[in-house]
Amino acid sequence: MLPRVCEPPPVDPKLEADAYREMDHEEVNRRFVLDLLESGPVGPRVIDLGCGPALIPIALCELAEQVANGNLDCADHGSDLSNLEVMGVDQCIEMLELARVELEFSGRVGQIQLEQVDLNDLDALQSELAETVISNTVLHHLDNPTNAMRLAVKTLRPGGRLFIRDLCRPESDEEVERLVDLHGGPSTDAESPVGPRQLLRQSLHAALTLSEIQEILKSLGIETDRVKMTSDRHWTLDCTRPEIEN
Ligand SMILES: C[S@@+](CC[C@H](N)C(=O)[O-])C[C@H]1O[C@@H](n2cnc3c(N)ncnc32)[C@H](O)[C@@H]1O
Repeated sequence: MLPRVCEPPPVDPKLEADAYREMDHEEVNRRFVLDLLESGPVGPRVIDLGCGPALIPIALCELAEQVANGNLDCADHGSDLSNLEVMGVDQCIEMLELARVELEFSGRVGQIQLEQVDLNDLDALQSELAETVISNTVLHHLDNPTNAMRLAVKTLRPGGRLFIRDLCRPESDEEVERLVDLHGGPSTDAESPVGPRQLLRQSLHAALTLSEIQEILKSLGIETDRVKMTSDRHWTLDCTRPEIEN
């Protein structure tokens, strides 16, 4: 099995944030939001942990509005999707600056709030803030993802829903390279250290395996069958808040 190699801290956060924003995430973001809306209740308050340029909060507000207006078919879980309030949090100020621009472009400034938060800090957010806590491809950035999972559980209201998706570390270098070839865009002679292929390669090496995330779930009292492989490179956790020991 490949050992986990944690992500190096960004050398140039502005360059990396810009490089991330330039990649095309539209389809994976849409898939994330549709899977979230299709498979359970959402909101009215939602927190996105590690929101990056806030493209998922924006897609969520847009698609939820379409469902609420009857313009998009979606299973009815009894949620009032017409008035979602979303908070996007991220540690990286450069990402939050990009997010602010995206919110202005999309006209969602009044609906989506941004805050600088380090997911390693369990006191960074109040308890029981939201009915739904979401996060996409963030845990692999953290040396100790258990802290962020504890924070996620803490910010959920009783009965609230946790929906987290991240990459899964492959078993071999060959499998990493196969996924980079499939999903990292075209190969070039001089691969940029902040190009999509290298970022994906690094992220796959830093990702948790399914059994590693299951160990974390066990420690939090969440049933391990709530996490499943949902693509050739992602796992998804969808569960309600476990009991919290005081
Ligand atoms: C791969 S990006 C994903 C962004 C967004 N979730 C999306 O799907 O577009 C990972 C994000 O995690 C953020 N991040 C990394 N470490 C963090 C930490 N300790 N606290 C908060 N955010 C963090 C990064 O700044 C970055 O915006």
